[in-house]
Amino acid sequence: MGTANGLRDLANKAVRRARKLVGRPDESPWVLRPKGGVRGGDGYVDFVIGLDFLNNNATLTRMLHEAMSPYGLSLLVANKTNVVKLTEDYRAGRDRPLVYLDLCSAIAPEFGELLRAAAGAGVYTIGQPALLDQWTYKARAQKRLEEVGLPVPATVVIAAGERSRELSAEERQAVGERCVIKPSWGVAGKGVVANVKPTAEAIEAARQFDLKDDYLVQRMIKWEKLGGGRTAYLRGYNVLGSRTLLWWAPETKLYDLLSWADVREHDLMPAVELIERMAQVTGMDYFSSEIAITSGVGQPRFVLIDYCNDQCDMNPVSAQADGPPDEWVRWVCERLAEFVWRRKHGRGETVGSSLWLAEGKGAAAGETMTQRVVSAA
Ligand SMILES: Nc1ncnc2c1ncn2[C@@H]1O[C@H](COP(=O)(O)OP(=O)(O)O)[C@@H](O)[C@H]1O
Ligand SMILES: [Mg+2]
Repeated sequence: MGTANGLRDLANKAVRRARKLVGRPDESPWVLRPKGGVRGGDGYVDFVIGLDFLNNNATLTRMLHEAMSPYGLSLLVANKTNVVKLTEDYRAGRDRPLVYLDLCSAIAPEFGELLRAAAGAGVYTIGQPALLDQWTYKARAQKRLEEVGLPVPATVVIAAGERSRELSAEERQAVGERCVIKPSWGVAGKGVVANVKPTAEAIEAARQFDLKDDYLVQRMIKWEKLGGGRTAYLRGYNVLGSRTLLWWAPETKLYDLLSWADVREHDLMPAVELIERMAQVTGMDYFSSEIAITSGVGQPRFVLIDYCNDQCDMNPVSAQADGPPDEWVRWVCERLAEFVWRRKHGRGETVGSSLWLAEGKGAAAGETMTQRVVSAA
């Protein structure tokens, strides 16, 4: 009865495995070695991605593994199961990786700990703690971006501790009759109050979201609708020295690939230049900015709305309904792999910056993102 026994063995194995998964989460870091490579005995890993919900079977993990493998690079997922253990390891000087990408510290403090532990141990961190304080804190970024002349909405900052007050005539003139009131330390639109009069009362009401934060009382920007019902709103990215644009609609939170033809049709190169300048001013390796395309009188055609989002959403649309396009995610994974490889082999950074956009309809699968060098450093 070999067959029956064999089946029972398989069934038992499945039960044992299920028990193991249910009863005792495996907290030991699970390093994904390059495909076809030799298994190393130590805990060394080239690249670590930190994202609480990510696991080793996730689509994004597979995409990263596929990008890292040809370069001979190993990968480790830091998620909610092993984040504390990894933090302890880095603090103790154990198993220091080459590069750490933080995609989670804004919403999960334990990942902030991991980021600081990694940076403190000398790991190259994408998401540098010192820069994040400067640029992802909207009230601080506001002032500095204004100073360098980037197109940000007119804003009055009401600092934590300051009393909610009526705006001066001059401030009211700048902000307009309808405004957006938002916390400086916002994520995912939380605490944003839109389309209200900028009164002391409205400001006070908005601040109840978090009394410890500074608030931006901001001119409300209106964006166009383009042909085909497309919302005239972009996300511009700097990915380790390469630039790219995606469509993104605030109402639905859905992304779409943006092609070279779109750039020509809607004259979008100035949006790329804004990202170029943001990258230079901020020094941040990997961020996105929300950019509204407007036709308002007396305001620039492109207005930066959310200036500097680090921890960009990378979970692809095939895995998460409101995620970015898979082709784009694959391209980002490629940039990460190339970046880690260059650091590992002391190649320095790529010279100049390039722009990557979707090829557009009719392009062969896997050839959707194409590069043009737009400027030399
Ligand atoms: N000045 C503004 N004018 C119009 N809409 C705005 C403005 N500021 C924010 N919004 C809207 O609110 C959303 C969330 O604000 P944002 O600044 O992106 O904060 P978060 O960091 O929470 O994403 C934006 O995506 C945009 O749709
Ligand atoms: Mg935003």
